Amino acid sequence: MISKKIEAALNEQIALEAYASFLYLAMASWCDREGLEGCAQFMHRQSDEERAHMLRIYGYLSETDGFALTPAIAQAPHEFESVQVMFEKVYAHEQKVTQSINDLVNLSYAEKDPSTLNFLQWYVAEQREEEALMRTILNKIRLIGDGPQSLYYIDKEVDKFNKAALAAEATEEEQ
Ligand code: FEO
Repeated sequence: MISKKIEAALNEQIALEAYASFLYLAMASWCDREGLEGCAQFMHRQSDEERAHMLRIYGYLSETDGFALTPAIAQAPHEFESVQVMFEKVYAHEQKVTQSINDLVNLSYAEKDPSTLNFLQWYVAEQREEEALMRTILNKIRLIGDGPQSLYYIDKEVDKFNKAALAAEATEEEQ
């Protein structure tokens, strides 16, 4: 059993993860149109991951006799000035999500709720990884430059993260 305050805060987190999933889907579509295949694949994967983050909270709320609410999703932007601007928006959104997770951790302490505190640890680690990944990509884009001559190389660099993720999944399946 969780408190109403925790239930409401987790439902807000569901909305944030759902928006991230749609935002990244919109970005995948933009990348596709711009011919950035590696970036499109990357953003599709991120979008799927955000949906999984959202569903994990549905599962937790159901397990703890809470009630998960399916959120209304605000229209995500469809156009981006450049691939660098797009990744800056991703990084900014991830920082917002991290702040929200930290607030949830603090609320769990205040509500004396060790179960939710324990549940949130997965998100704390995930946010650390996501922010680090986005910073790495942004640093690469800044090094390469994001003028028209650089887009091919940026796409290749981002595609390396797709290949690494696929290799990691294959290893997990083998185990
Ligand atoms: Fe689930 Fe990347 O925030």
